[in-house]
Amino acid sequence: MVVSRRGASAKAPRTQFEMPSSHIVVGDCVAEMSKMQAGSVDLVFADPPYNLQLKGDLKRPDESHVDAVNNDWDKFSSFAAYDDFTRAWLLAARRIMKPSATIWVIGSYHNIFRVGAIMQDLGFWVLNDIVWRKTNPMPNFRGRRFTNAHETMIWAARDENAKGYTFNYEALKAANEDVQARSDWLIPLCTGDERLKGGDGKKVHPTQKPEGLLARVLLSSSKPGDLVVDPFNGTGTTGAVAKRLGRRYVGFERDQTYATAAEARIAAIEPLPEATLAPFMTARGAPRVAFSELVERGMIVPGTKLVDSKKKHAALVRADGAIMLGDKVGSIHRMGALAQGAEACNGWSFWHVETMKGLKLIDELRAEIRSEMAAG
Ligand SMILES: C[S@@+](CC[C@H](N)C(=O)[O-])C[C@H]1O[C@@H](n2cnc3c(N)ncnc32)[C@H](O)[C@@H]1O
Repeated sequence: MVVSRRGASAKAPRTQFEMPSSHIVVGDCVAEMSKMQAGSVDLVFADPPYNLQLKGDLKRPDESHVDAVNNDWDKFSSFAAYDDFTRAWLLAARRIMKPSATIWVIGSYHNIFRVGAIMQDLGFWVLNDIVWRKTNPMPNFRGRRFTNAHETMIWAARDENAKGYTFNYEALKAANEDVQARSDWLIPLCTGDERLKGGDGKKVHPTQKPEGLLARVLLSSSKPGDLVVDPFNGTGTTGAVAKRLGRRYVGFERDQTYATAAEARIAAIEPLPEATLAPFMTARGAPRVAFSELVERGMIVPGTKLVDSKKKHAALVRADGAIMLGDKVGSIHRMGALAQGAEACNGWSFWHVETMKGLKLIDELRAEIRSEMAAG
């Protein structure tokens, strides 16, 4: 973990970062991102100032003070000033993105529509807008509007024709009871032990995001080892989750106090064991294993009888890796189809070998070879 302090000097040479696993740079994100190598980043997550335009103290009907975001870093003199700032940091982020990289920007009704329009103007291609629905939103104290119960995240590719961006579709689906993951996410606000507090017991940062939200962002759109950048590091939520999930991280933060808190937070994170992070192997993505490999490796000896689950059909394994059903010879798939009088058949999930412990699907033998391959 390295925290480096750099001024916003535009004279500093343009260098590539030596890349430790987590790196927080104290300084202005536009100036600092411009020192990074172009096209070097896999994923950007940005939680910029929302320009909430809160006027004065926010109070409840009983006149008690509401702990709202009233920091100087969230204040802009006009919408035009906010748009200029947004354009500048988005351009700097786009320059460092690989052609296949994607970007997430989170915001609320105060800013997200302006941000979205600027993103489209700059050439980003919106892939989704995700609604983060809060289980425990702050009430609308005066009862004059709806409760703001959500924030919006824009997920975009660098260009309209971007190819090969990461979307872990199969893993997300498997984790969601085999149903496609939706664009509305129900996740609580960051509270309890997760919320960073100072020695005075007060929140270190007014807008610390929940780790659950960042975990879903990183798990859906990045891979272990990817380089993730957050231009608005704050308490380092993105960095903490990135480290836990085995991603590399660079965060930018202007405020030294926030950066120091983030550094301690990230340093305390233990990455998850590699086996729990290994990319989800889809049927299509898994390495091809031919049936003949099972024979070559001696896992099935020539002459073995293959049977279906009900032992209605039996085929003989030949030395060359084809199988024989009656007087017909062919692949495990073709002979499986023939046995059932079907057009097609996945032989891997049709044929079994007989073992002392009962029938074993030949797909289980293939899985053994694949896990050997994955272990290298
Ligand atoms: C909305 S907060 C991010 C909170 C963060 N996601 C977290 O979970 O803690 C925005 C942060 O950006 C920082 N910031 C604002 N303008 C900046 C700039 N130009 N360069 C770097 N940091 C900036 C602020 O100090 C603030 O901590």
